[in-house]
Amino acid sequence: MAFSLLPKLSPCILFLLLLSSTCFTSTDAYDLLDPNGNITINWDVMSWTPDGYVAVVTMNNFQRYRHITLPGWFLRWRWAEKEVIWAMMGAQTTEQGDCSKFKGGIPHSCKKDPTVVDLLPGTPYNQQIANCCKGGVLSSSVQDPSRAAAAFQVSVGRAGTTNKTVKVPKNFTLEAPGPRYTCAPAKIVRPTQFITPDKRRFTQALMTWQVVCTYSQFLTQKTPTCCVSLSSFHNNTIVPCPTCSCGCRSNSSQSGKCVNPGTPHLASFVSGFGKNEFSPTVECTNHMCPIRVHWHVKFNSEKYWHVKVTITNLNYGMNYSDWNLAIQHPNFDHRTQVSGFIYKLMTPYASINDTAMLWGMKSQRNDVLIQAGPNGKVEGDVLFRKDKATLIDKGWAFPRRIYFNGDTCTMPPPSAYPF
Ligand SMILES: *[C@@H]1O[C@H](CO)[C@@H](O)[C@H](O)[C@H]1NC(C)=O
Ligand SMILES: *[C@@H]1O[C@H](CO)[C@@H](O)[C@H](O)[C@H]1NC(C)=O
Ligand SMILES: *[C@@H]1O[C@H](CO)[C@@H](O)[C@H](O)[C@H]1NC(C)=O
Ligand SMILES: *[C@@H]1O[C@H](CO)[C@@H](O)[C@H](O)[C@H]1NC(C)=O
Ligand SMILES: *[C@@H]1O[C@H](CO)[C@@H](O)[C@H](O)[C@H]1NC(C)=O
Ligand SMILES: *[C@@H]1O[C@H](CO)[C@@H](O)[C@H](O)[C@H]1NC(C)=O
Ligand SMILES: *[C@@H]1O[C@H](CO)[C@@H](O)[C@H](O)[C@H]1NC(C)=O
Repeated sequence: MAFSLLPKLSPCILFLLLLSSTCFTSTDAYDLLDPNGNITINWDVMSWTPDGYVAVVTMNNFQRYRHITLPGWFLRWRWAEKEVIWAMMGAQTTEQGDCSKFKGGIPHSCKKDPTVVDLLPGTPYNQQIANCCKGGVLSSSVQDPSRAAAAFQVSVGRAGTTNKTVKVPKNFTLEAPGPRYTCAPAKIVRPTQFITPDKRRFTQALMTWQVVCTYSQFLTQKTPTCCVSLSSFHNNTIVPCPTCSCGCRSNSSQSGKCVNPGTPHLASFVSGFGKNEFSPTVECTNHMCPIRVHWHVKFNSEKYWHVKVTITNLNYGMNYSDWNLAIQHPNFDHRTQVSGFIYKLMTPYASINDTAMLWGMKSQRNDVLIQAGPNGKVEGDVLFRKDKATLIDKGWAFPRRIYFNGDTCTMPPPSAYPF
């Protein structure tokens, strides 16, 4: 009887039944490289108004290597009572909703569950506030902390007008292209302190609540988006990405959503795709991944060895701006030299000292990985110092693991490595 029920239960409940252990870690991904990564939203009430308050909402991306790309973030919540938004600066709601009950001034939004989006760069100054208007793009905290925050101001009406009567909004949802986030309920925290421009006085919010959103592997589409191929100067075999790394190329016309580069109608086909959509339209390959990372060992001397890293975009519908790679290899250390990319060791914890992050540079125009085609790749060189301790197995020159924009790339099996 018990067993006939099992197939209907979620893996989480099954896990609970069988091991009677806590299950929460199995749904919210534990990211070894970024265990505390989160996006924190602070809602600071700055002043009371006759029927509500004015708040500044700030979003900080505290994730080391996950960022938010175009078309940017969407933030939604549900009002606890009958609140309305009179006005906003630095962002806007996507819908006004039904404001027909209002006779005089018409609110900016009357929706019970407003969805807020950032304004675009170039918004008139009188609609901006500090840190706004980046088209919803948030950098990762390692790549560019100065661009890792967003902010907007909201004037809320029909709300409480003291810190005892204000009701905290519910059900915050943060949406971004690609990764999915889960947000914990808003918590009232110690009011945020602000320092005045002359740095001689602290002011503070009248009331602050905070929402912490974390990346959820459980909600994020599980299909890999990238794969790794390998080669080496001492063996002219190229070890390709494993077949079906990200999907299988199919002969049937419905499921085979891939494009042959030689197709005469390619241009019109491609222009029909939505810009930067997240259902990738990829070049037809045996691995069907939108991103391929190629690791080529170029030379090997007594003291050094040298690798060329090439990232190829095989997706016709997407420019990856602010892309990043995290690579795990025991030889990474502060003596490693990288040209073409920015290099930073990720050494947050004693147990992880073998992982580095690489990303492109604006000055080299390789910070955007352009859509599939002749310009759809970037490359850089890595010069490692030799460390005898790690040169034991035959795969020593190849990475243990690679992540593109935080997603694990499918690697060839070690048995296939060139030697
Ligand atoms: C969110 O990230 C910040 C910065 O790394 C950290 O101080 C805080 O503890 C994190 N919050 C949670 C709930 O993980
Ligand atoms: C919370 O928001 C999500 C997504 O917007 C929605 O699916 C869900 O039903 C909401 N929950 C409640 C209790 O309103
Ligand atoms: C509300 O304000 C009172 C005094 O002004 C303060 O003591 C209290 O801690 C505040 N409560 C919150 C939730 O901020
Ligand atoms: C696809 O075509 C090849 C030969 O053209 C055939 O061997 C294979 O079985 C086909 N696969 C599917 C899924 O139809
Ligand atoms: C990618 O960028 C190029 C050059 O800026 C542009 O021409 C192209 O339309 C963009 N593609 C997408 C899918 O946004
Ligand atoms: C890296 O960590 C490993 C295991 O924690 C340790 O044995 C090794 O000495 C560390 N290496 C460096 C360069 O700190
Ligand atoms: C090159 O590597 C491949 C894959 O591991 C192997 O099968 C082949 O024998 C190697 N070739 C030479 C000349 O060593």
